Amino acid sequence: MNQRDFISYCQSELGDAYVLVESKDQVPYLSDWRNRYHGKALAVLLPKTTQEVAKIVKACDQALISIVPQGGNTSMCGAATPNDSGQQIVLNLKRMNAIREINPSNQTMVVESGCILQTVQEAAKTQGFLFPLSLGAQGSCQIGGNLATNAGGTNVLRYGNARELCLGLEVVTAQGEILHGLRSLRKDNTGFDLRDLYIGSEGCLGIITAAVIKLYPLPQTKWTALVAVPNIPATIELLSLFQKRTAALLSGFEMMSKDSLDLTAKQFPHMKNPLTNDPFYTVLVELSDHEGEEHARNLMEQVLEAAFEAGIANDAVIASNLSQAQSFWTMREHITMAQAQEGANLKHDISLPISELDTFITETDQLIRDQFTGVRIINFGHLGDGNLHYNIAPPLGVNASEFNRVHEEAIHDVVYSQVEKHHGSISAEHGIGQLKLPDLEAHRGSVAHQLMRSIKTALDPKNIMNPGKVLP
Ligand code: FAD
Ligand code: MLT
Ligand code: ZN
Repeated sequence: MNQRDFISYCQSELGDAYVLVESKDQVPYLSDWRNRYHGKALAVLLPKTTQEVAKIVKACDQALISIVPQGGNTSMCGAATPNDSGQQIVLNLKRMNAIREINPSNQTMVVESGCILQTVQEAAKTQGFLFPLSLGAQGSCQIGGNLATNAGGTNVLRYGNARELCLGLEVVTAQGEILHGLRSLRKDNTGFDLRDLYIGSEGCLGIITAAVIKLYPLPQTKWTALVAVPNIPATIELLSLFQKRTAALLSGFEMMSKDSLDLTAKQFPHMKNPLTNDPFYTVLVELSDHEGEEHARNLMEQVLEAAFEAGIANDAVIASNLSQAQSFWTMREHITMAQAQEGANLKHDISLPISELDTFITETDQLIRDQFTGVRIINFGHLGDGNLHYNIAPPLGVNASEFNRVHEEAIHDVVYSQVEKHHGSISAEHGIGQLKLPDLEAHRGSVAHQLMRSIKTALDPKNIMNPGKVLP
């Protein structure tokens, strides 16, 4: 089947309106959210059903046309952007957005991949449940992309990554077969775990078309506070105080450095840190409870008092209502937008053992400041999971893109060698995509890398599934 026949086959299967061949129609699908990667596409396809996806993949398998699966296109690693050959298709799942079932007894939902995360959260809430995956991109990222990247976000501390929130998958394989795996079983030990193979595979093994996701009881009360902390050791002591005293109620523990909040206030002047003593580090901590108001509130106050007595906190504000709590989270989630608005920046989505955080930050801050004068270290993230977004903004007044072009590799080398030294990961939650493809083998080792390539060859021998992402 040649390309012309392929396009008319897709048009006959999907309808002309859902086969975008005009470049003006393709624009929203060809660049990544950070505007770092730009590609071309033979066509952008918008299927509505699993059967349509299967037919397209079968045709691609025959015509040897490679596929870039795409959800909300919010990847931080260029994982959903086609290359510049113009020979690939982008297969965007946004039309597959049905919520197929909510089952209160199983505490599960069956959702199609194109469901936007926020829509799924809201649908769960109307039924009195919580779907806990929560991240800054939730207004546009889709469940398919969340599972394909094993997304993390701000509730991992209590509920885990996307992987822990999924019981079953429906997948179209690289040969266009449909894997019917939408099982709602909490226990199912029947052979290799194919579901976990596809979760986190970044579109390189197959296309996730639907999932059975777990629902949780909706917390009755939430108490949220901002806490001023003098240094990282104190932040870690505060984390362990909350873990010991509040245990399963602790549902969020984010750290924001002064530089990260200063940048946010500069880009969004109405989002100033309510803690007025200009703290070096600010922690956003949240307790979610199923008991009445008082229990969580008393706990929050007791732990903060203990923190003041121990000298690990020197100021704090407890949100007096839900909208104030939301304003704390909005400030936190706007750090990423502030960086994007400020211009090109270098991201390091890293994780470390909690015990290594302080020495990593002390040493790496020093190395970066010594070697790259004037850069700003925008360090923030999900500290409760040991996940830092250790991002570097160019010095003020220089051409950001030019600065990054010259220094990006050297800065990555400093940060990633420090990550290795402190037994961390070079990608805590954003995945590998194309951005970190060159770093993967050195980081994971040749045996692990070879095993990944063997799995890729076994499941996608023709290498039509998102080639050039994750693996060479
Ligand atoms: P896309 O970007 O469209 O695709 C991502 C990858 O998944 C690609 O490899 C693509 O090929 C593949 N893919 C997409 N859909 C499918 C499918 N149906 N089947 C198979 N493969 C598929 N991430 C976090 O983990 N935690 C955060 O806190 C976080 N915060 C963010 C904040 C902002 C403001 C932004 C812009 C991004 C943030 N991200 C975060 C990154 C991003 O939102 C996540 O990686 C998200 O899970 C990507 O979902 P998506 O639908 O946009 O996927
Ligand atoms: C976030 O947690 O806001 C993002 O994952 C961080 C980033 O954009 O670097
Ligand atoms: Zn994050």
